[in-house]
Amino acid sequence: MKGLVLCAGKGTRLRPLTYTTAKHLIPVANKPIILYTLEFMKKAGVNEIGIVVSPENENLFRETLKDGSHLNMKIEYIVQPQPKGIAHAVYIARNFLKDEPFLLVLGDNLVFEDISSVVSLFESECVDSYILLARVKDPRAYGVAILENGRIVHVEEKPKEPKSDLAIVGVYLFRSGVFEAIENIKPSWRGELEITDAIGYLIQKGYTVKAHIIQGWWKDTGKPEDLLEANRRILDAIREDECFGKIDETTVIQGRVRISRGSIVANSLIRGPVVIGENCKIMNSYVGPYTSIGNEVILENCEVENSILMDESKLSNLSSRIDSSLIGKGVKISQNGKLPKAMKFIVGDLSSLEL
Ligand code: G1P
Repeated sequence: MKGLVLCAGKGTRLRPLTYTTAKHLIPVANKPIILYTLEFMKKAGVNEIGIVVSPENENLFRETLKDGSHLNMKIEYIVQPQPKGIAHAVYIARNFLKDEPFLLVLGDNLVFEDISSVVSLFESECVDSYILLARVKDPRAYGVAILENGRIVHVEEKPKEPKSDLAIVGVYLFRSGVFEAIENIKPSWRGELEITDAIGYLIQKGYTVKAHIIQGWWKDTGKPEDLLEANRRILDAIREDECFGKIDETTVIQGRVRISRGSIVANSLIRGPVVIGENCKIMNSYVGPYTSIGNEVILENCEVENSILMDESKLSNLSSRIDSSLIGKGVKISQNGKLPKAMKFIVGDLSSLEL
């Protein structure tokens, strides 16, 4: 069975980070989101993957994931020239998918559940599609399904008045019949070919569409707070400490903390769960729970908690604690204490600062 991961979305709610990277390549617990998706697919027994990318992001994905051989996977790239919807992305991947059944995953969805048994069921049963669902309190932002005896009998995209609490998670199993469905749907109000409409077509034409309700944790990581929640969830699962690098005797390490090679920590308190990448310098600082620090980050005289700091960022001499923040690559934040007391910013478009 083949796999298709959709990564062509613009990630507008994660600007300015997504001006320079794709949202699927943003690190959570020091690993790009897409790697969690690929691990999820591999666990499900799917190793031959097509990744749908936008023309702007194609090279970034190629540089990061290459041909997939280092992950024991086979990766091909398919460019979606314009963001015309999930169903459109599936349709343009037809040459890659051929007539084989496939696992479709939206690349910004994190699902921590082993679905290999669902994949086996799909392969052995005479079922046209399996759709993964999750019970949510407010399903209005999702596709919503109605079930009858394990079969999906109705789907609706982002309904104002949902008829059930079953949201469509971005994980689907299809056979080639889905192409006929895509050929027969029209763009939605948002101008996109919706996969939910293609599923609706399959149901209407009498194809068997079954559901699997996931019990595990799942997150659509579209917004900064989603990334921080995913970061907390993944850091919570860290079991063992792993402290390489140089940690001086005045430093206190509490809880589960991972520090990679080449990093130096002096006169600081690191309270886990925390991950710290390679070649970082942390001096006279406090790093609190649920913080992920990338490679070559410098912290001097500052406090940070519940945040993601990307590679090569530098924070120094800050009088307030940094909390619930996403700090991009190479960002510098410092306080110099000189008079006149003023704030000085060189901040990119759509940055967000809360002081
Ligand atoms: C898409 C699908 C929707 C699904 C959601 C899951 O929505 O159209 O049915 O519930 O992903 O994340 P979008 O993220 O494009 O708004």
